Amino acid sequence: MKRVAILISGSGSNMLCLLESMQGAHPARPVLVVSNDPAAAGLARAAERGIATASVDHRAFKGDRAAFEAELLRPILAAAPDILCLAGFMRVLTPAFVERFRGRMLNIHPSLLPKYPGLHTHARALAAGDPQAGCTVHEVTPELDAGPILGQARVPVLPGDTEATLAARVLEAEHRLYPAVLARFAAGDRRPVLL
Ligand code: GAR
Repeated sequence: MKRVAILISGSGSNMLCLLESMQGAHPARPVLVVSNDPAAAGLARAAERGIATASVDHRAFKGDRAAFEAELLRPILAAAPDILCLAGFMRVLTPAFVERFRGRMLNIHPSLLPKYPGLHTHARALAAGDPQAGCTVHEVTPELDAGPILGQARVPVLPGDTEATLAARVLEAEHRLYPAVLARFAAGDRRPVLL
């Protein structure tokens, strides 16, 4: 059975879908949810479900990413995960941290990568007049949002869409994609999931 740690920054809706998926015949189980924000709503939602939680407030480190990550590593190493899932985790990780978990750290990103790495993905898709949008799960490598793609889900962009309506449609696709990719990845299969 693979051990999974989930890193979050906010509400943790993707985290909840991952937690709920890891049951029964699933090849993985959650061992930790950790956040860079002690007030992240997802922490309480994980704790309610009996999952160990931890937080390290990045603001206490004033831009010293290495020191922040040293603290973040403590609970992660104590939980001994096989796989790390970034799920709405909004801090950029240093190459040293990424290398440590090379080949076993996943991220979900709200665009059809390689389009729109970084922030404001939905606004950029709307501004470009794209007929489709979506989300990507990829392996994390030192270059931001550029690692090997493990899955993508597509949704239409509809007439009258705003950033909010498109984000909601993409988030619903994220909730289907991430558990599907994690189940396949935890079973040792890295072929991309296409939804
Ligand atoms: C999701 O849309 C996720 O793709 C995005 O943040 C949201 C988190 O939602 N992640 C990024 O933008 C990563 N750079 P959640 O906390 O409800 O899962």
